[in-house]
Formats: sequence, structure tokens, C-alpha cells
Amino acid sequence: MLSEGCAAIDVVEKVITMMEDDPIFDAGTGSFRNLNGVVEMDAMVMNSEENCGAVHCIQKVRNPIQVARMVMEKTPHSILTGSGAVQFARLHGFEEYEPALSDVKNPSEEIKGRERSLRDIQYYVEEIRKEDHIFSTVGVVALDQAGRLVAGTSTGGIRMKMPGRVGDSAIPGAGTYCTREIGLSATGEGEKILRMCLTYQSARDYLNTGKLTDSLRKNVKRASEIDCICGLIALTRDGEFSFAHNGAFMPVYYRTNK
Ligand code: GLY
Repeated sequence: MLSEGCAAIDVVEKVITMMEDDPIFDAGTGSFRNLNGVVEMDAMVMNSEENCGAVHCIQKVRNPIQVARMVMEKTPHSILTGSGAVQFARLHGFEEYEPALSDVKNPSEEIKGRERSLRDIQYYVEEIRKEDHIFSTVGVVALDQAGRLVAGTSTGGIRMKMPGRVGDSAIPGAGTYCTREIGLSATGEGEKILRMCLTYQSARDYLNTGKLTDSLRKNVKRASEIDCICGLIALTRDGEFSFAHNGAFMPVYYRTNK
């Protein structure tokens, strides 16, 4: 798409849509359910004009990233949450869809999870944190021929989250960030990532030093120091790209004009 001259926003939306439709990822179809057994998703896009659109805790849509883009392009707002996000999606023709394949991925555990007391959430999160696969948020950054950068991120959140919980993915400067110079997306433990402003800090370090990989590694190291599992992808307006992570299940794919 990029080599044919498509806009970065179209590419980010398309690739994230593909991953949302693939049940292997914790985004769209395949999202983890919360403790009430409901899928609540967060998604965001941000462009190099520093415009952004995001949805938090959106339910019953197939592609939250498409709704997030519409928030950016069709409203004066940056973030819509919960029932407001769903209402907005329906007004724009997004049909009701149940992204509920997490029962297939983790049948017994997810069902047990719903029976557990919300009061004991801290204990269960610590327990599942010991396993590898408690999150697999998806993110994309693209640079088009016109020099526009766009970053996007989509997630079903973490396993066994409390209803109403919002992670880092759709918070500007936490899980997603974009300026004229650099676009970034993060994956990992949302609570800690958003407290660290992980993508914002990585962007600042890059802008101050000009060193992309060092900036990402420095911030992943900072995350490791507070026991935060995370990963970052980044792309600059010069076409330099890099990634860094401290988690096991954080595959990265890149494609250049070469
Ligand atoms: N990083 C995804 C989340 O914590 O929701």
C-alpha cells in the first residue's frame, strides 16, 4: 500500500484491522474477557500533526481501530469511552459483533476467572503475570511517501482485568505517541507503562539525543527497573526504525522500501 502511495493512516488502520481479525492476538476478535466475562477493548491512532482518536472500553464492535480513527476524523474529541464509544460506532454504521474467542483460547481458566471475586484481583493478576501470555496488544507505525507518520495500537487489555479498566494503549504518550519526528507504539503491562509515559519519554529521549535504539533501550531498561514487562516499536520521519523489549512474546515485523 505504501509503495503505491497510500496514506500512512490507511496502512495503520488496515494492518491493525488484519491483526484485530486474527484471534491469535489480544485485540478485536481474540481479546481477553474481563472478570465479568465481557470483552472491553482500547484502541488509538495518532498522526504527525499530533491529532489523535481513541476509544476506551468499547464493546461489541469488530474493529476498534476503525472507530478510533473516526473519533479523530469526525469529532472534536480525542477519546470516547464505554457506552459513548459504542453509541458513536453504531451511528457510523459499525454493526454489533461479539469478539469473544478468548473462551476458545483459555477455556477453563477464563470461566473460572469469572467466578472469582473481584476483591481478590491483585492476587490473580500476580499469579497470571508469572505466565508468558497475559497480553498481546498489537501496534503499527507507518511513514508514507508524503512524509506523514502515524502510530496506532489496539488491545483487549490484560487477562482477568476488572470491568472498566483502561490500559496504556489508547492513552496518548503512554501506549501510543506520534509527533512530526517520530511515531511509537508500546505493548506490555498497561498500568506501569502509562505511569511511565513510556512512548512520550522515549520520543523525548530520541529528540534530545538523535539516537533511536539507545532511547528505546534506555526506556525499556527504566521499565525493567520497576518490574514492567514491555516492548516498543518506533519509526522516525527519516525512515529509521527500531524496537526494544524485555518480554518473551513480542514479535516484530518491519518492511522498508528496500
Ligand atoms: N498494554 C495493553 C494493556 O495493558 O492494556
